[in-house]
Amino acid sequence: MKTTWNKKTNLVHSGNRRSQFNEVSEAIFLTQSFVYETAEDAEKRFASDVPNDDFIYTRYGNPTIAMFEDKIAAIEGAEAAFATASGMAAVNGALMSMLSAGDHVVAARALFGSCLYILENILPSFGVRVTFVDGTDINQWKKSISQETKVVFFESISNPTLEVIDIKAVADIAKSVDALTVVDNVFTTPIFSNALSLGADVVVYSATKHIDGQGRTLGGVILGSEDYIRNTVEPFMKHTGGSMSPFTGWVLLKGLETLDLRVQAQSDSALEIAKSLIGHESISSVRYPGLETHPQYDLCREQMEKGGTVIAFELLGGKEAAFSLMNSLEIVLISNNLGDAKSIITHPATTTHQRLSADRRQQLGITQGLLRLSVGLEDSKDLIKDLSSALGNLVR
Ligand SMILES: Cc1ncc(COP(=O)(O)O)c(C=O)c1O
Repeated sequence: MKTTWNKKTNLVHSGNRRSQFNEVSEAIFLTQSFVYETAEDAEKRFASDVPNDDFIYTRYGNPTIAMFEDKIAAIEGAEAAFATASGMAAVNGALMSMLSAGDHVVAARALFGSCLYILENILPSFGVRVTFVDGTDINQWKKSISQETKVVFFESISNPTLEVIDIKAVADIAKSVDALTVVDNVFTTPIFSNALSLGADVVVYSATKHIDGQGRTLGGVILGSEDYIRNTVEPFMKHTGGSMSPFTGWVLLKGLETLDLRVQAQSDSALEIAKSLIGHESISSVRYPGLETHPQYDLCREQMEKGGTVIAFELLGGKEAAFSLMNSLEIVLISNNLGDAKSIITHPATTTHQRLSADRRQQLGITQGLLRLSVGLEDSKDLIKDLSSALGNLVR
């Protein structure tokens, strides 16, 4: 019998399958479809609804993608996974596959712009009622979740204001009415928390972020029970076309091998950098889940191993100061991705959350002075120097 492996061993070895050539590094099966020995064989494969290594068509499944799915399912402790073309295909697939007109969803208000678009625009246009709550306020979840609620949805750490949601408390309330808890765990990464063991039913990732971690490819994954993945997600995804490409699956497989090393180092640097920003005369607040000053620091320590790779801080000088700081950085890149080996700074109010009304941004704490910093793998001393020199230019 196979022994139980720890996460780091799973990241390297779980899910791997070797072809007849016994390669060490996983093979990329860049093929759209698969050949059958006989017509009877083809008929048999199409008749089988049991997932196995008898592949039919890459939109349905592919050996490279199956390795990625099995590896991440092992890391997450999930029964099954379905890989998707992007993080948004995962969020959309996880929700749309199980909701229909008349259903009720309760969601945290503080969400990434595209997640918000699905919940605020797309689901209601199909007759799904969505109630938004302040995700950090357990009483609001209690008041809004009712017997009609089918699904609750939130980002375990919200983008970009880094609110930490109590996964266990919300999942317990959802369970009391048989609603399913769907958690977008991007900021926490598969390394720092395990939403399923805290009571979530479904976890989604944008693999574009830390899982790739080197800015190359878009991807996503939905994780949950065998029954939910095989009977709800898979039919929806394979017929609507949001499946992952084999090349992406291969890039992400290689990304998983180094995920732990990268996010541990990035998170350690993020803590150092967050500390270095505190008290600067141009900064009104620094938010990082690993800092004692974070409003949910105790919760963060309870449900997360480390504070993650992203810091949010606010400049007193508003948009002008934010743009000026961004433009004087030498190492940190101006972009809107996160989780990359390269440090990246984003001004959410004019990019990722530009679509929202000014009032809505205000409600979410996305002010004109707010910056989101994704900490990469550079030497933290160089990053601190880069930020401190850009901040120095502001005061002069
Ligand atoms: C919390 C969260 N969910 C989902 C996504 C979407 O991921 P993708 O760009 O891979 O579609 C993002 C992207 O920034 C995100 O931050």
